[in-house]
Amino acid sequence: MKHIIAVIVLIAVITVALATWLNSINLLPPLASAEGIPIDWLFSLHIQVIAFLFALIMGFMLYSVVAFRRKKGDTGDGAFVHGNAALEIVWTVVPLVIVLYFGYLGAITLRDITSPGRDELVVEVTGSQWNWRFDYPEHGLSSTELNLPVGRTVLLKLTSIDVIHDFWVPEFRVKQDAVPGMIKELRVSPIETGTYQLRCAELCGLDHAYMLANVNVMPSTEFDGWINDELEELAKAAAGPALERGQRVAELMGCQDCHTLDGSQGKAPTWLGLYGKEETLSDGSTVLVDDEYIHESIVNPSAKIVNGFGNTMPARFGEELSEEQIADLIEYIESFSE
Ligand code: CUA
Repeated sequence: MKHIIAVIVLIAVITVALATWLNSINLLPPLASAEGIPIDWLFSLHIQVIAFLFALIMGFMLYSVVAFRRKKGDTGDGAFVHGNAALEIVWTVVPLVIVLYFGYLGAITLRDITSPGRDELVVEVTGSQWNWRFDYPEHGLSSTELNLPVGRTVLLKLTSIDVIHDFWVPEFRVKQDAVPGMIKELRVSPIETGTYQLRCAELCGLDHAYMLANVNVMPSTEFDGWINDELEELAKAAAGPALERGQRVAELMGCQDCHTLDGSQGKAPTWLGLYGKEETLSDGSTVLVDDEYIHESIVNPSAKIVNGFGNTMPARFGEELSEEQIADLIEYIESFSE
């Protein structure tokens, strides 16, 4: 009896000390979404159970090492213990109930954080190697940064034009894959203004670690102001020179992730001096870089591969871009001719 009481006290002390310490060292980044509230609560509940399990095992072990140590001169065998059915049932049934209960908590939390909210803002998120693009279909806008109003549920519709990427803002807690050919949904209700960083959480190739984008959560008046400014910019660009529109298309599509503008050869041919040049292809033939060739290279990139480069350009730009956008883009590429 003396041993049992001592072990219970030891386990209680280790549990409380460990859980307090783990909860105090900020294992998670600051919280910025409503969906994160029940997730953080579940996380801290797990920490408490983990602390208890650790204490249970270590408490019994440490106590036994000290209290039941072999006495000096004692060379006899220990007592022979043959099973204990009651104990075995307890340590099977109790963890089973705990695991089922946690499964239940997880399921209702998932239901709550994925159910539609009122007046959702829809943002289409497109991942590509190694770039994020955000389209606001209600406003007809596209952006390379994700701007969101605070306090409103955002329905993100995620897809990819090449391989699987994964939308992850640690401060929002929730996470979802962007899969080519599919639309995956994710709901986020930002509760704190600020700038956060979106990162890709699916190993997607060479520059996976640098596939980042800013996420700006702002008051809704500021968000409306941003929408208006962007619409004005867009109207101005529509009336302005094609090459400025082309530059914006290049930014949105992440062209410069592979095509440099300074003559250095990246993962794809540089745009500096490209237009008007004779390009040698992988089969040894040559082709003049003109409007027609660039158009083909955008909508069907595998048709003609430049010697020394791989067939790595995503094949879906033909579907992503309108004919006008492609024409603007060609104009922009032409502006780098020598
Ligand atoms: Cu995209 Cu990793």
